[in-house]
Amino acid sequence: MKARIKTMPLCLTVNGEAKQWTIAPGDLLLDVLRRKGYFGVKRGCETGECGACTILLDGKPVNSCLMFAAQAEGSRILTIEGLARQDRLDPLQESFLDHGAVQCGFCTGGMILGAKALLERRPDPSEDEVREAMAGHFCRCTGYRKPVEAVLAVTRPKKVTS
Ligand code: FES
Ligand code: FES
Repeated sequence: MKARIKTMPLCLTVNGEAKQWTIAPGDLLLDVLRRKGYFGVKRGCETGECGACTILLDGKPVNSCLMFAAQAEGSRILTIEGLARQDRLDPLQESFLDHGAVQCGFCTGGMILGAKALLERRPDPSEDEVREAMAGHFCRCTGYRKPVEAVLAVTRPKKVTS
């Protein structure tokens, strides 16, 4: 006889839209989001080190590879797909493009969400604070300087020192 796979409901808000999904208790949030089409949430290391899977959970950056989907019950999730408003990119997205801070783009969604959370908390961060916020996001392409410039430019143009 085949074992029946247990399922459970999950109610949450993703990018401003209420969702009611059916999940398995052991599903990771990363897997559920990608299954539902949020491919901006990247699957990288799956061990909480690279930051590619970052989402904002009730405004805080979280590695979705380290969290069961069930733990997100009732929460507000923002993925990179939800950042633009009515076809207008978020200023951080614009700035990343303007500063050449996007290359392969694999890390970019997580990085921008990490920066978004930082700017909510610290609207005028120092360069060190931006670098610290970026430290949890591995980028193989940019060398970090351009992303840091891009974040600082949103609040204080030309603040980066050489
Ligand atoms: S995939 Fe989650 S931190 Fe790397
Ligand atoms: S832009 Fe390629 S990993 Fe960051």
